[in-house]
Amino acid sequence: MRMRRKKNLDERLRQVRDYIVDIGETTGGYEGIPFSANKLDLVSVFGNDNPVELEIGCGKGQFAVALAKAHPERNLLAVEVNPNVVVLACEKAKAEALPNLRFLALGAEKLGVLLEKGSIARIYLNFSCPFPKKRQAKRRLTHDSFLAIYRDILVDNGEIRQKTDNRILFASSLCAYSRCGFELCDVTLDLHADEPEDNIMTEYETRFVSLGQPIYALKAIKRG
Ligand SMILES: C[S@@+](CC[C@H](N)C(=O)[O-])C[C@H]1O[C@@H](n2cnc3c(N)ncnc32)[C@H](O)[C@@H]1O
Repeated sequence: MRMRRKKNLDERLRQVRDYIVDIGETTGGYEGIPFSANKLDLVSVFGNDNPVELEIGCGKGQFAVALAKAHPERNLLAVEVNPNVVVLACEKAKAEALPNLRFLALGAEKLGVLLEKGSIARIYLNFSCPFPKKRQAKRRLTHDSFLAIYRDILVDNGEIRQKTDNRILFASSLCAYSRCGFELCDVTLDLHADEPEDNIMTEYETRFVSLGQPIYALKAIKRG
């Protein structure tokens, strides 16, 4: 389904262009970005060689902004395919003038082409679209094809941190990590029963927690 573009979207995207990584010429928008074989130079994106983390499907940016504020010693690249949403996240980052947060306005499918092998310290998958029907399974951000990309771009022993409210996505993710060379740890079916001190709430998490729904979470470590 094609989504309606927000009013004034192009102008708003222009206002936050310093926060969106320029990956080459765009054809009048953020769909159908022509792709080059060049890899992103993360040191020039952030102006330092601090570790780089990725949030994939960052939505309106609540988590990304809070994480970047809490950890100025890390860089965060937040990935979001929907331009109507990424613009809101960029506006939040700009309001806070965060030097260690930048956005990629594209689908996670393209990350393997764009990022160097072993360049990412950690990946956050927060409340990824569940695509619960069997025929949609390939679109889940923890499908084997995505995990192959993440394995490639993660450092050795780098980790994925996943949170979701969706049982089907969580169960299928557990199986996929096990098949694809990740070691699981800190698996929980109720993150908020014993909430880790460093947990940062996302927009979706805030909503589900207020409804009393359990949050499933895990860490998946890249091994050998
Ligand atoms: C359910 S929302 C969760 C947003 C946010 N992470 C949170 O927890 O509040 C999932 C987001 O992932 C984005 N998304 C879905 N598939 C994607 C993909 N292949 N690449 C990048 N973003 C994607 C959607 O556009 C949407 O904004």
